Amino acid sequence: MARGTIIELSSGVSPSCPYYLGDSVADQLPAYLRRHTFDEIYLVTSDRLHARFGGALARVLGDANIAVNVLTVREGEAAKGWQQLTELCERLVAAGVTKDSLVMAVGGGMISNLVGLAAGLTYRGVRYVEVPTTMLNLTDGSLSNKQAVNGSLGKNQFGMYYAPLFIWADVAYIRHEPVRQHRSAITEAIKNGLVNDATWFERLEKLLTPDLAAVQDDLLGFCHDVVSSKQSILALDPGERHAGIMLEYGHTVGHAVEFLSAGRLLHGEAVGIGMCAAAGVAVRLGLCDPEVLHRQEHILADRLGSVTGLPRELTAEQIVEVIRNDNKRRAGATIRFVLVPRIGTVRCVDGDYETPVPEPLLKSVLTEA
Ligand SMILES: NC(=O)c1ccc[n+]([C@@H]2O[C@H](COP(=O)([O-])OP(=O)(O)OC[C@H]3O[C@@H](n4cnc5c(N)ncnc54)[C@H](O)[C@@H]3O)[C@@H](O)[C@H]2O)c1
Repeated sequence: MARGTIIELSSGVSPSCPYYLGDSVADQLPAYLRRHTFDEIYLVTSDRLHARFGGALARVLGDANIAVNVLTVREGEAAKGWQQLTELCERLVAAGVTKDSLVMAVGGGMISNLVGLAAGLTYRGVRYVEVPTTMLNLTDGSLSNKQAVNGSLGKNQFGMYYAPLFIWADVAYIRHEPVRQHRSAITEAIKNGLVNDATWFERLEKLLTPDLAAVQDDLLGFCHDVVSSKQSILALDPGERHAGIMLEYGHTVGHAVEFLSAGRLLHGEAVGIGMCAAAGVAVRLGLCDPEVLHRQEHILADRLGSVTGLPRELTAEQIVEVIRNDNKRRAGATIRFVLVPRIGTVRCVDGDYETPVPEPLLKSVLTEA
């Protein structure tokens, strides 16, 4: 696919929105914005990302006579909370945002989650546009309408479903992102194969090397295929009410570990650790062959070059405590996991995609990990 070409997809969730994918397409953004009526753009990013991308994007919009106001926010999981959320909402109002404005999030998943939620709350909803600058946000986070901030007891505890007006996915932004962050993103791509598509998983087993050479060689094509792998899952359940829960594979332990690591682990790294813990649980419950665990560890550790073991400083007790406050929790005290009995499928009993896991068994698996 040539640079400058725009592929029109859709986010795949419900309500859905256009997902425009391309390479080096910033100069075309004004034309896509002009398909909508608005007064001004409120571009929200961090100081660092403004210096790298936001400033240039604001100039492209300004040159097209689009009025742009730039606001910068602090980055990191610790800054993805109530305090910065309320500050941002107040700052948007003080800066003059109206019901006719567009809020534009330029950044990774942290900025998107914060800005998407602020846009959804301000005046009960100001339209917003997502411009992902990380591979994780471009291929995964932006394809969900989930906006959230962290609470003092866990990740993403306060939020809402709020769809963007459209997603502007330009892989030029992610071309020079650190390889470690690409590995983090690719963990979610591997997850898509584990839960729904054995052929995609096998392709990744062959394609991946720790330097990600094949990925960098065809960044646009690779991102396109990762997005497709997620969209096939969303197509099963666009409202994310039943089968869509399979996207949470690895996230029960993953979110707890990410939260406890306080920024030391990237999202995908924590999810990879969580997927290995989930496979360990499935093996102990006699619900999957150890081969599934071994292939999962092999692709994550040897092919992708990512982490699979729990950080030494975390105890099973700490992790289980955070899981008890998980944002997916339902009535009753049982901890529930998405499990993978065979590569490409998830366990589903009577329409329930989650399996209750006894706490002592989970603690034992975590202690061994
Ligand atoms: N809504 C969802 O469904 C969903 C899905 C996955 C993750 N998330 C959330 O997304 C967050 C993680 O997102 P993330 O991995 O995108 O990271 P991030 O937003 O935390 O950003 C990580 C770092 O990357 C930097 N960065 C951003 N773009 C860059 C670029 N092009 N080059 C170099 N550095 C760049 C940022 O400045 C930041 O320091 C977590 O808060 C997670 O909960 C949400």
